[in-house]
Amino acid sequence: MTTPYWVAGRPASSQDLVEVRSPHDGAIAGVTSNASAEDVERAVAAAHAVAGEFAVLPAHARAAALDHVSRRLAERADEVAALITAESGKPVKWARVEVARAVSTFRWAAEEARRFSGELQRLDTDPAAAGRLALVRRVPRGPVLGIAPFNFPLNLVAHKVAPALAVGAPIVVKPAPATPLVALLLGELLAETDLPAGSWSVLPVPNEVAGELAEDPRLPVVSFTGSGPVGYSILERVPRKHVVLELGGNAAAVVCPDWDDLDFAASRIATFAMYQGGQSCISVQRVYAHAQVHDALTQAVVAHVRKLGVGAPTDPATDVGPLINEAAARRVESWVDEAVAAGARVLTGGRRDGAVYEPTVLTDVPPGCKVVDEEVFGPVLVLEPVPTVEDAFDRVNASRFGLQAGVFTHDVRLAFRASTRLAVGGVIVGDVPSFRADQMPYGGVKESGTGREGVKAAMEDLTEQRVLVLTGLEL
Ligand code: SIN
Repeated sequence: MTTPYWVAGRPASSQDLVEVRSPHDGAIAGVTSNASAEDVERAVAAAHAVAGEFAVLPAHARAAALDHVSRRLAERADEVAALITAESGKPVKWARVEVARAVSTFRWAAEEARRFSGELQRLDTDPAAAGRLALVRRVPRGPVLGIAPFNFPLNLVAHKVAPALAVGAPIVVKPAPATPLVALLLGELLAETDLPAGSWSVLPVPNEVAGELAEDPRLPVVSFTGSGPVGYSILERVPRKHVVLELGGNAAAVVCPDWDDLDFAASRIATFAMYQGGQSCISVQRVYAHAQVHDALTQAVVAHVRKLGVGAPTDPATDVGPLINEAAARRVESWVDEAVAAGARVLTGGRRDGAVYEPTVLTDVPPGCKVVDEEVFGPVLVLEPVPTVEDAFDRVNASRFGLQAGVFTHDVRLAFRASTRLAVGGVIVGDVPSFRADQMPYGGVKESGTGREGVKAAMEDLTEQRVLVLTGLEL
C-alpha cells in the first residue's frame, strides 16, 4: 500500500515512489510518492485561492479542527509513536514523548485560536485625537510554506501546521525526505475535519523543489526548521518574504557551585545530551562546571551515560538508537576523531557501529574543534571546568549560535543575571537547555535563527497588525 500525500485536503499519489526505511535495520517503514509538479501547483493555487475565505473562518471552526487533531493523535498515540520509530529510528520511549507533545501543541493552538483577539489602544491622549480609539487586530500575512526537519517528524510539523490553522493562514507543508510518513498520517487526521479545501496540503518533495516553492509569490511566508546553510540559502533567495528560521545550536549547561544535587544535574545532562542520539537542536553539547563541582559532576555524568541503553529503537528500554543514517554517524565519528587527534580525552564512548554512535563524553577539548564550535547533532558531550560562573557565561556566549542554555543554580539573582548575560533565546534554570514546553516562545539569536515558534509566538509571527481607527467616540 502506498501512503498518499495530501493536496488541498485530498489524497493523491504519483509514480515517483519513495521507500522509507528504518535507519536501524533498513526495514521498510512505508512507501509513499513524491508529489508531482501538477499536484504541487494544485496545492499552491488552492492555498492562494482559499486565503481570503480562511482568514475569516470563525475561531470556533478553527479551534474545533485543532481540538479534533489533538484528540485523534491521543487516541492513536501508540500507532503514531511506532511510525515515528519505524521511519526515523527514534527510540520508542522518545517517540511517545513526541506524540504527547504534539497532542499538546494542537490543543494549545485550539485554545489560542479562541482567544487571539488583538488589542484596543486609546488615542485620546492628545487633543488632536479626542474621541478616537484604535482597534489593533492581527491578520494572516498569507499562505505559509512550512519546511520541517527529520528529528521531530511529528511535533515540528505540528509547530508549522497548528499555529497557521489557528490564525487562518493556509499552509503547504514539506516534511523531511527521510521522515514523511508521520506527517502524512497527520494529513489523515486533518482530512477528518471541516477545514476548507486548500487550507492545508502535505507534500513530500525533494529539497530542490522546496527551494523553488520558497520562491513562489503565492506563499509569502516561509517557516523553516533545519540546518543553517539551508535556512540562510532560503533567506537569500527570498529576502523580501517573511522568513522564520529555526536553526541549530551547540547548547550549553552551566553548573554553579551552589548546586548541591549533582546527581540530578548529571542524570539530566546525560539523558539530554544523548536523547534521540543527540539529534535535537537543544540537546546538551557543552557543559561548563565550576571547578568546585567539576570532578564530582564529571564522574556522575560518565556513570549515568554508561547506564544508557543502546539498542533497537523499538525496545521500550532503549535510550539511544541510530542516527538518521550511517553518513550522519560517520560525520560524528570524524568530528570526535578530530578532537582526539587535537588532544581531547574520551571519558566514555567514542565508537561507531553502522548508523549508531556510542554515547560519548569528551574533555580537554582544545579550542577550534568542531565538537565544541559546530552543532554535533549526535550523542557527544564536552565537559570542561571553569574557575568562575562568569567564565562559564563567557564560554556559553563564545558561540555563533544561541538557542537555549541551562543554568543549575538555586540563586535567583544569578538566574536573572544569566538571563541578561547569556545571548540565547531562553535560559532554563535548574535544568538542561533541552527543556521545551510547546506553548512557550522558542527560537534563537545569532546563527540559531530568526523569529519564534511556540504556539502563540508563531501565531504572532504568521500575522501582521492591522489598525482600525474609530472616531467620534465617547471614551
Ligand atoms: C529542535 O530540535 O529544534 C526542537 C527541539 C524540541 O522541540 O524539543
